[in-house]
Amino acid sequence: MNAAPALSVEALFAGIGPLSILQGVSLELRSGEVVVVLGANGAGKTTLLRTIAGLLAPRSGEIRLYGEAIGGLPAHRVTRAGIGHAPSGRELFPRLSVGDHLELGGTFCAPSRRALLRERMLAMFPVLRERIHQKAGTLSGGEQQMLAIARALMTDPKVLLLDEPSTGLAPKIVLALFEAFPLMRAQGVSILLAEQSLSLGFAAADRAYVMDHGRIALSGSAKELAADSRVADTYLGR
Ligand SMILES: Nc1ncnc2c1ncn2[C@@H]1O[C@H](COP(=O)(O)OP(=O)(O)O)[C@@H](O)[C@H]1O
Ligand SMILES: [Mg+2]
Repeated sequence: MNAAPALSVEALFAGIGPLSILQGVSLELRSGEVVVVLGANGAGKTTLLRTIAGLLAPRSGEIRLYGEAIGGLPAHRVTRAGIGHAPSGRELFPRLSVGDHLELGGTFCAPSRRALLRERMLAMFPVLRERIHQKAGTLSGGEQQMLAIARALMTDPKVLLLDEPSTGLAPKIVLALFEAFPLMRAQGVSILLAEQSLSLGFAAADRAYVMDHGRIALSGSAKELAADSRVADTYLGR
């Protein structure tokens, strides 16, 4: 048993050029949890996930994966350490096939492990099996999001960072995607979700953090926060 949280972020500061975006973010994702970071557009959710993923260097603060310091490592080393990232806007290659994307995701895995993960992904999202030779650009929005998640899971992560999967999708489709969370959890993946939609975020997560202007404004169980009027005030107060 590893008592350390799956992911811990402590007093994280990050920015782009002269712009300070994250202003001392601290949060924790325990092993097996689904945690949502809620925030209005521009709150800093994507910047937080990109910094955890190693795509943006922290200015200060700590990021730990099961106790191991990963803050400041380049993205490929963060991936190898066990963080999978399904980025904002999916970032698929429209002309590459579904199968190609899974191969790309599994690049760093041993071939036998890669084959096992591929099979898991196709069992998790059966429609991707039907579309295995189809180009990503021809998939529906929901299928593209499945593929973005599957590609991230092909890196064999311990933590999945999932950035606003609901963008451009009907809520019903998003809720169907969230049905795969228990499977991921059963496969040892803890999930940090960024969402703008309060209802979808609360539906998916065990716990929630509300982010505002690069800071964590509120945190608690999804149930508590769903009933907390301060959440709406934080959103409207921007
Ligand atoms: N590449 C960038 N250049 C300049 N400003 C940026 C860039 N990326 C994000 N920002 C700014 O940082 C803030 C947080 O953005 P972001 O992390 O994308 O928030 P969210 O994902 O919560 O919508 C916003 O004010 C946004 O305009
Ligand atoms: Mg975002």
